[in-house]
Amino acid sequence: MRLVLKSCTIRPWRLDDADSLTKHANNRKVWLTLRDRFPHPYTTQDAHEFLQQAIREQTTTKFCIEVNGRAVGGMGIHPGQDVNRHTATLGYWLSEDFWRRGIMTEAVSALTDFCFENFPLRRISAEVFATNPASARVLEKAGFVLEGRLNNNVIKDGELLDSLLYAKTR
Ligand SMILES: CC(C)(COP(=O)(O)OP(=O)(O)OC[C@H]1O[C@@H](n2cnc3c(N)ncnc32)[C@H](O)[C@@H]1OP(=O)(O)O)[C@@H](O)C(=O)NCCC(=O)NCCS
Repeated sequence: MRLVLKSCTIRPWRLDDADSLTKHANNRKVWLTLRDRFPHPYTTQDAHEFLQQAIREQTTTKFCIEVNGRAVGGMGIHPGQDVNRHTATLGYWLSEDFWRRGIMTEAVSALTDFCFENFPLRRISAEVFATNPASARVLEKAGFVLEGRLNNNVIKDGELLDSLLYAKTR
């Protein structure tokens, strides 16, 4: 799978992405808006472990965002199970060096279109910390609908936060 877009390319991760991944992922501002399983500081070893796992998966669910030939961000689509098997959740991050250029809006739109076209999915959702208006805006521009506010849903960096549940259905 390779989606060549105007602002970036979405493709599977490769082992040789490790240096660029470490450089761009090692940013507290990125970590602050993501789950704690995203490491901080982000070391070369974290990158190697992540890449080995991503490459071992039978079905690719973790994707690299490439700009100018370099891995500068990531997206993950996580399929639901059992009665939720027609759903998936979406996560993403982009290097601070490339924020506010429309890259993630284009990437989220393209990856969700691709997933709806190629998998028997009826719903893709994403949860955004209420303190992250940029990500909420990305989802809105990519056609996601705000379904609700989840009060006190997250503890991040010692702070209790609400999150916003967005979804796109078909
Ligand atoms: C959130 C993130 C993915 C946005 O990526 P991006 O490529 O910069 O997003 P885009 O340029 O496509 O669009 C950003 C939109 O948010 C808006 N925006 C940016 N910062 C904002 C802020 N502080 N308040 C309100 N809107 C903001 C931009 O103006 C733009 O909207 P517009 O086109 O209507 O002007 C990126 O900042 C990031 O990776 N952050 C760290 C990780 C993260 O938050 N991941 C998502 C977790 S749910």
